[in-house]
Amino acid sequence: MRTEQTLIIGASSDIGKAIAKQIIAEDSANLILISRSFADDDQPEYKANSSNVTKIKLKDYQPQSIDQAISQLSQDNQAPITQVFVCNGVLHNSTITPEKRLEDFNAQSFIDVISSNTLTPMLWIQKLTPIITGKSPCTFVLFSARVGSISDNRLGGWYSYRASKAALNMMVKTAAIELARRAKNIKLIAFHPGTTDTPLSKPFQKNVPESKLFSAAFVAKQLLEIVEKTPHDKMASYLDWQGEKINW
Ligand SMILES: NC(=O)c1ccc[n+]([C@@H]2O[C@H](COP(=O)([O-])OP(=O)(O)OC[C@H]3O[C@@H](n4cnc5c(N)ncnc54)[C@H](OP(=O)(O)O)[C@@H]3O)[C@@H](O)[C@H]2O)c1
Repeated sequence: MRTEQTLIIGASSDIGKAIAKQIIAEDSANLILISRSFADDDQPEYKANSSNVTKIKLKDYQPQSIDQAISQLSQDNQAPITQVFVCNGVLHNSTITPEKRLEDFNAQSFIDVISSNTLTPMLWIQKLTPIITGKSPCTFVLFSARVGSISDNRLGGWYSYRASKAALNMMVKTAAIELARRAKNIKLIAFHPGTTDTPLSKPFQKNVPESKLFSAAFVAKQLLEIVEKTPHDKMASYLDWQGEKINW
């Protein structure tokens, strides 16, 4: 019987799927995938190893839906959760386009972006803390982005996405201060994957040199190594795909 579990939230994300694939290949832990949508046909490896993989499907990321998933986790899981990856993030969709100028800013788009990129991860921090607090070290990764760094903002643009990731970073830093007092086993990491070839970056890849456009598999490998190496120092870290610190 395995003694550790990994949780991937927003598991339909291309990077999330690559993390899952790698964990399954290494057979190193039980895996729990949480998503609004599972593309079973794309992921035959999940079926082949289905005894190690639990899928929890949510209808949305409203607090009540997250509560239901948490109660399922609390029932099903005996082994400690030692890794959590919250992959959720929206840059564009059928109604959202990242702003180039002030005139592009739209109130409803901003609310939608903040909701998926800041509120959803924050709810997972809040609602998972009681079940991951304990003796086993747990590394909790929240997908951020370098554009969420206030000190690094030289280009401007992308108001809503930038603000949502900057707000997420503040949630992560603030939570880490509280967890250092009451849940010392949890290490929070705000992670920048680099520009990665996924649906999220697709419309913006034109000017990205080939060497700077990463595959999801590469980012997943980097991230799993970073999680392995990063010490549990009771502080939040803001790290890029090389494990290098980013200035908040
Ligand atoms: N790709 C890049 O170049 C890049 C660069 C910097 C940062 N990032 C960040 O890395 C993370 C993963 O991105 P990806 O490239 O793998 O993206 P992706 O393949 O487009 O995945 C989208 C993710 O967002 C979630 N999502 C979509 N709509 C949502 C909503 N309305 N509310 C809550 N969650 C929603 C999906 O969850 P479900 O599984 O429930 O559908 C899924 O986890 C994101 O946080 C992104 O901001 C990506």
